[in-house]
Amino acid sequence: MKRITVKDILEKKKAKKRITVISTYDFAFAKLVDQSEIDMILVGDSLGMVVLGHPSTLFVTMRDMLHHTKAVSRAAEHALVVADMPFGSYQTSPEQAVRNAKRFIQEAGAEAVKLEGGASVEKQVKALVKAGIPVMGHIGMTPQSVTQLGGYKVQGRSPQEGNQILKDAQCLERAGAFSIVLECVPHQLGKKITQKTKLPTIGIGAGAETDGQVLVLHDLLGFEFGHRPKFVRQYAHLDQIIRRALAQFKHDVERKTFPSRAESYE
Ligand code: KIV
Repeated sequence: MKRITVKDILEKKKAKKRITVISTYDFAFAKLVDQSEIDMILVGDSLGMVVLGHPSTLFVTMRDMLHHTKAVSRAAEHALVVADMPFGSYQTSPEQAVRNAKRFIQEAGAEAVKLEGGASVEKQVKALVKAGIPVMGHIGMTPQSVTQLGGYKVQGRSPQEGNQILKDAQCLERAGAFSIVLECVPHQLGKKITQKTKLPTIGIGAGAETDGQVLVLHDLLGFEFGHRPKFVRQYAHLDQIIRRALAQFKHDVERKTFPSRAESYE
């Protein structure tokens, strides 16, 4: 299987081929995603909620992200691995952003990094690109700014807000990013931004007209622990399968039907 590069992602947009991205965080799941020929694996800071049990992404550290990016990189032979830069690891200065992003490339084996914001992180994106680090932007609903945004709300509903998000996308393009995640914006805005930028747009709650789509693997597989956003399509209900298997294991151990003689050593 051919290894996907940043160039392949840019060419997919030109060729009007759709781009697939999955957020996942460990070796086993990354192996399955990679073997399914998904284009990019995002080691998202959604890790904080999905795997670490935090109430938001704001608690995720560089240490958490490096640890999980290493596991995903060990699994990926085909997909481009993108590491999410956690809250507080890039906002202070371009130097801070480059220092931390280098760790994702050199220590954890990622091929690109993602950071949230448009005009507000223009200097950081330019510095990263200058340092040879491919950057994926993330605009619209940016979870690391949840407190400023007043919750996980659709962004860009008014013409002014929509124009600002479009300007952010154009700013990321000028700064040299190679793609943009567009999260929770009206589908009309998703389409407009996709048409007005050369960068591949990866939507999540941004309608069907973006160049690609991203979902968190746990959401797609149907691990249902709380609120499910409208944009999630569940392709399986693994939580039910896992619960059934665990109940069967408990039953078998308690009734001494596991292990059998065939499952034991002579
Ligand atoms: O953290 C994450 O998984 C993400 C995607 C949902 C885009 O940012």
